[in-house]
Amino acid sequence: MKPIQVGLLGAGTVGSGVFKVLSRNQEEIQRRAGRGIQITMVADLDVERARSIVGDGVQVVSDARAVIANPDIDIVVELIGGYGIAKALVLEAIAAGKHVVTANKALLAVHGSEIFAAASAKGVMVAFEAAVAGGIPIIKALREGLTANRIQWLAGIINGTTNFILSEMRDKGLDFDAALKDAQRLGYAEADPTFDIEGVDAAHKVTLMSAIAFGIPVQFDKAYVEGITQLAAQDIKYAEQLGYRIKLLGISRRVDKGIELRVHPSLVPAKRLIANVEGAMNAVVVHGDAVGTTLYYGKGAGSEPTASAVIADLVDIARLHTADPHHRVPHLAFQPGTLQDAMG
Ligand code: HSE
Repeated sequence: MKPIQVGLLGAGTVGSGVFKVLSRNQEEIQRRAGRGIQITMVADLDVERARSIVGDGVQVVSDARAVIANPDIDIVVELIGGYGIAKALVLEAIAAGKHVVTANKALLAVHGSEIFAAASAKGVMVAFEAAVAGGIPIIKALREGLTANRIQWLAGIINGTTNFILSEMRDKGLDFDAALKDAQRLGYAEADPTFDIEGVDAAHKVTLMSAIAFGIPVQFDKAYVEGITQLAAQDIKYAEQLGYRIKLLGISRRVDKGIELRVHPSLVPAKRLIANVEGAMNAVVVHGDAVGTTLYYGKGAGSEPTASAVIADLVDIARLHTADPHHRVPHLAFQPGTLQDAMG
């Protein structure tokens, strides 16, 4: 079967990670997907930078619409970010009958209803594993692994920048501004860090998770949002003395009147696993009626962790389009001889 053709919009940190991981693990990914996944076209305003990332055999253009207009492209990966041009391009890609993979939590949290409705009308997928908690497969867990459950609540550390800042303030006694500068230098923060520190980024992510967990429309405007800018080093110290850690949590739960969505600094008992999630790491706890409480932990940002999530979505879509039904669910893809070789 011919490889599924992918066009990338944006060749920055995540885009370059997608190239690296796809080429490094090409064989395994192809075996699991049931067919090849090939990036054939990339659009980036910085054509030279994009060329240096993608190498030969990939067409590089500056106009994203050229990717959408290419009839050979099956999946458009949107890695531009923000609500502006990214929204127009995603809707155009859907209208052109392309599946869309995106890491754009802001776009989906605010305009998700319109985008998902357009995709459903056109019969294409909009997949967004990379939009929430980077490399942690939390969307897949909610969508598939926990699908038998009535979810009661979920709560998570889903913004690495603020968790990093809180850890630095506690461990190194840094003040807020110095810790934020470190987070920016290390590339955790959004282009506009206001979204991180005011809790908006975490609210985007909890909005998306709760839409899947509770089967509700994406309703970012209904979330209560409070960031960490009002916290002083002393608050963190006092919490510590009382046996707590302060964490910025995104929380969604069933209440009498429906579903509650909120983001705010929370006192978490220091003995809880989630209290010990440090630095830019993310963790999400989900409670389902059948499974009980489950915990997911990992890197919430960064080039390859986010690329890992983007490629998982590419594989999902590729599987839907294989002729062979056994590829439509993940299979073990054993390589003959592996066990014997490993045992010497
Ligand atoms: N700024 C985000 C964070 C990046 O700090 O978690 C990943 O979404």
